[in-house]
Amino acid sequence: MEKSSKIDKKDSPAMFDNIAKTYDKLNHILSFGLDVRWRRKFVTYLNTRHYETVVDIASGTGDLLVNLQKLNASNYYAIDPSENMLNIAKTKVPSAKFIVAGAELLPLVNESVDLITVSFGIRNFVSLEKSFSEFYRLLKTNGIVSIMEFSKPKFFLFKWGFTIYLKIFLPFIGKMVSKDKSAYKYLQASIFDFAENVDVFQILSKCNLSKLSENKLLFGAVKIYTCKKL
Ligand SMILES: C[S@@+](CC[C@H](N)C(=O)[O-])C[C@H]1O[C@@H](n2cnc3c(N)ncnc32)[C@H](O)[C@@H]1O
Repeated sequence: MEKSSKIDKKDSPAMFDNIAKTYDKLNHILSFGLDVRWRRKFVTYLNTRHYETVVDIASGTGDLLVNLQKLNASNYYAIDPSENMLNIAKTKVPSAKFIVAGAELLPLVNESVDLITVSFGIRNFVSLEKSFSEFYRLLKTNGIVSIMEFSKPKFFLFKWGFTIYLKIFLPFIGKMVSKDKSAYKYLQASIFDFAENVDVFQILSKCNLSKLSENKLLFGAVKIYTCKKL
């Protein structure tokens, strides 16, 4: 039976509105700068063909959107339910089109998109099934969806390190920099909950998106799931 996430996600956009100003700085501190490399690598995997229209979902402050410019697509959309996060993204890539919306209901037309990306966003979605069905609806035939998200490393020593990092380091530094204790507790809980309970490819396949590849970064602490609409 398919397991599903157990934490309440409905307030997550408001939480991201509150931490938007410190989000980029904290991301770089908390990942020891690795997030920059991960987004770059993510785009490298996608740079194998031409895309006309690219949609970055849960775009946040737009750090992935900046890297996606290397694909030289004709149209870029950045979608996120947090207006404050998107306002920062607008300053980085003013030429993109910005839409305040959740992944579960996307205001774009059927079969109009060549590539959908999500980095560190899906664990916040209220419904993965509804969101992936929307991805299927938007994608053209042969369109690609590529998703990067935290996962649970398999190697036991690394798993311990990751657990200590998430339970102690992340909430401590998160509270110090953003002054929002609950936000970084939520982030920690959402990463654990997601890594334990969600089989991403299983839900993608249920929504008719066929597996192309799985890539692991940092010994499996981050995974990239790539699928195609056949
Ligand atoms: C951890 S940030 C990731 C931002 C960016 N993609 C990055 O790589 O830094 C997660 C983002 O997911 C957004 N989010 C929360 N709920 C969402 C939903 N239901 N649908 C789409 N995005 C959502 C938040 O507003 C936030 O900007």
